[in-house]
Amino acid sequence: MDFSIKTADKKNSLDMIDTDCIVIGIYDDHKLTDAAIALDTNGVITRALESGDISGKAGSALLVGFPEKIAAKRLLLLGLGKKPTAEKDFRQAIDTAIKTVKPLNVGDMLLALPLDLVSSRDVSWSIYNILAELHTQFYRSDALKSTQEPPATLRKVSFYIPSEQEATATEALRRAEAVMAGMTLARNLGNLPANICTPSYLAKQARDLSQTYKFELEILDKKQIESLKMGSFLSVAKGSDEPPKFIVLKHMHGNSKDLPVVLVGKGITFDSGGISLKPGAGMDEMKFDMCGAAAVLGTFKAIGELGLRQNIIGIIPACENLPSGHANKPGDIVTSMSGQTIEILNTDAEGRLILCDALTYAEKFNPAVVIDIATLTGACIVALGHINSGLFTRHDEAHDKLADDLIAAARQFNDPVWRLPIEDAYQEQLKSNFADMANIGGKPAGSITAACFLERFTRKYTWAHLDIAGTAWKSGSAKGATGRPVPLLCAYLFMREQ
Ligand code: BES
Ligand code: MN
Ligand code: ZN
Repeated sequence: MDFSIKTADKKNSLDMIDTDCIVIGIYDDHKLTDAAIALDTNGVITRALESGDISGKAGSALLVGFPEKIAAKRLLLLGLGKKPTAEKDFRQAIDTAIKTVKPLNVGDMLLALPLDLVSSRDVSWSIYNILAELHTQFYRSDALKSTQEPPATLRKVSFYIPSEQEATATEALRRAEAVMAGMTLARNLGNLPANICTPSYLAKQARDLSQTYKFELEILDKKQIESLKMGSFLSVAKGSDEPPKFIVLKHMHGNSKDLPVVLVGKGITFDSGGISLKPGAGMDEMKFDMCGAAAVLGTFKAIGELGLRQNIIGIIPACENLPSGHANKPGDIVTSMSGQTIEILNTDAEGRLILCDALTYAEKFNPAVVIDIATLTGACIVALGHINSGLFTRHDEAHDKLADDLIAAARQFNDPVWRLPIEDAYQEQLKSNFADMANIGGKPAGSITAACFLERFTRKYTWAHLDIAGTAWKSGSAKGATGRPVPLLCAYLFMREQ
């Protein structure tokens, strides 16, 4: 889809603009927005309102075909609710507009809506949300069906805005488009089945990105991973015939003295549980266990599109977790890259086993912050459902700041997180009689003990952990990857860009 901005001035007067559809806002109680007043010279909007078919309530809409004395083929009158508009009313209005236009023969549309309507939100926020709604409604996942749905009719969307908003809107649009491209990549990768999206496939994706955007790239194979002594990661990988890959992407466009942000994504391309085999029902969804990796790749897509002026490193440990004669067995003890030993009491707690070595590897970059992203625990779904991702950090000043920044970023792009604690008292649950720690902490607070496990490998830098088990994909009839938390990660990087 193509996006553009048209400034509201004399040469762009609304009635003269030739487009398939202009979307105009109406407030609750029949009040017109400025654009609606400008277009109502012949009373077409007033008459439509008098008909009673539209009230201005958020989510109401009325399509007027071939309006007199207006160049556009259609007018879509869109209820925006009260002024100032609530966030959810604005999103609902946009949702309705897109749903109305989508089945019609509308190739291009002009949104002549006020974009500074939502209190404490700006033009950028509105533009982001409009693109996010378009993405939600137009994303397709039928690439592997033998026939695809015909491409969408709507190809071009323009924003009609006052000229003083042009600079802000242009930058917001550029960023929102990059985030959508990143989400699309993350969703596409997440949705691919594990027989296609293997560790090697993820490495190939990283290679493609590095070629397109000139990222530095390292792909470590099994031998190189062995020489780094990543005994924990390798113990998971060895149950599968599919070779593991350790992927490192670097975008070093900040000052040479700026410490990098490091993003670490869990890349289990299929999680059967291993010898601690998962039940069969719903096991297909464990193809989504690489959504952390997909989020890192998606975020790098956005980083590359925008050419952010920062130092950012992406790390993806990628392998399968399968049962076999070579697989980890409950009770096995492995030595991680950090030297700490781990008793594997459950082979299904494999995410932490691959992440701990990636987190140790991250030390070598002397990071400003490290953020890991992982579909780590079913317990996180129990705690937070499918709304919030889990956010974990230690609880000192630097980490409170990082957590606050991530929460603010999450709010900005509607990709919510909720903070959960990491405390020494929970670390007790990871005690092992035979090794430095066990890889599971029992049933209570399962997502917290998983975070506590990772915490032991992150003490040399400032670190946050995002558990996206409940938010990275949807089940049931809407089954599919969501692209989260690409928006959150992008918003966080954008905050650092200013
Ligand atoms: N990938 C799963 C976590 C998961 C499960 C995400 C269901 C989304 C939906 C992870 O590797 C796992 O299996 N975790 C175990 C940990 C347990 C053995 C301590 C879990 O959550 O059951
Ligand atoms: Mn598992
Ligand atoms: Zn897993």
